[in-house]
Amino acid sequence: MNDAAADMPAETQPPRRLRISVLRYNPAEPERAPRLQTYELEEADGMTLFIALNEIREIQDPSLQFDFVCRAGICGSCAMVINGRPGLACRTLTTQLPTKIALAPLPVFELIGDLSVNTGKWMRAMSERVETWVHAQETAQGADLDRAEARMEPEQAEAIYELDRCIECGCCVAACGTARMREDFVGAVAINKLARFRLDPRDLRDDGDFYELIGDDDGVFGCMTLLGCDDVCPKDLPLMTQLAYMRRKMAAAGWRGADGAAATPD
Ligand code: SF4
Ligand code: SF4
Ligand code: FES
Repeated sequence: MNDAAADMPAETQPPRRLRISVLRYNPAEPERAPRLQTYELEEADGMTLFIALNEIREIQDPSLQFDFVCRAGICGSCAMVINGRPGLACRTLTTQLPTKIALAPLPVFELIGDLSVNTGKWMRAMSERVETWVHAQETAQGADLDRAEARMEPEQAEAIYELDRCIECGCCVAACGTARMREDFVGAVAINKLARFRLDPRDLRDDGDFYELIGDDDGVFGCMTLLGCDDVCPKDLPLMTQLAYMRRKMAAAGWRGADGAAATPD
């Protein structure tokens, strides 16, 4: 911005011109090498990165690939690396960024094309591996749909809800050094989910069972606690607290297992 524009009151300042560089590559066209493509557009009031990308795709380049569903920070599908930091395009105002913006797909996940990655495939595999569902008696015997729902104290429900807000966007995994190095690392997202089921009184698993799932270097003991995950989570989940808590509990469960004693919940 020149000096004259900088002196103007905000409402009379000319709109900024954004330069958005996108790392482009389509695995279905391996003959075309990965490349940076830069688009220019005028910033509008209240513009989010999602709106900017949509405008680019509508007006300048219909071939640009990126994902969105809800536009409200709920579905997690618009996560990408924004100026080096994983975040949600639909919750990022362009005014929060400099005029030069660099976008890249989330690492770790399978690339579909340009900014679109297959987080769903990774999340499903993680979910099956660490069994992210309530292991209640009726799971084995078949659910009794006529039975009244189990009662739960409001404080307990609130604590579970706090951890259940994860939208599986993948930002924490993309920011995680261990996940980049270790293909089978379950990530903060999985450890947070097990912390959630550990709180659930309907789940009959004990710490020995959770230890079987995440008591190794691909689970809590692989985490280097650098907390990139906690820094970038767009839902502000308490990942740092949950990682430390689960690591303590799993260390105790492992010790009890090695000692031959039965694992107890607390
Ligand atoms: S824990 Fe946070 S960053 Fe990780 S997948 Fe869930 S919402 Fe996204
Ligand atoms: S604290 Fe652990 S899970 Fe979080 S980014 Fe670091 S290594 Fe990954
Ligand atoms: S489009 Fe759903 S979280 Fe951004």
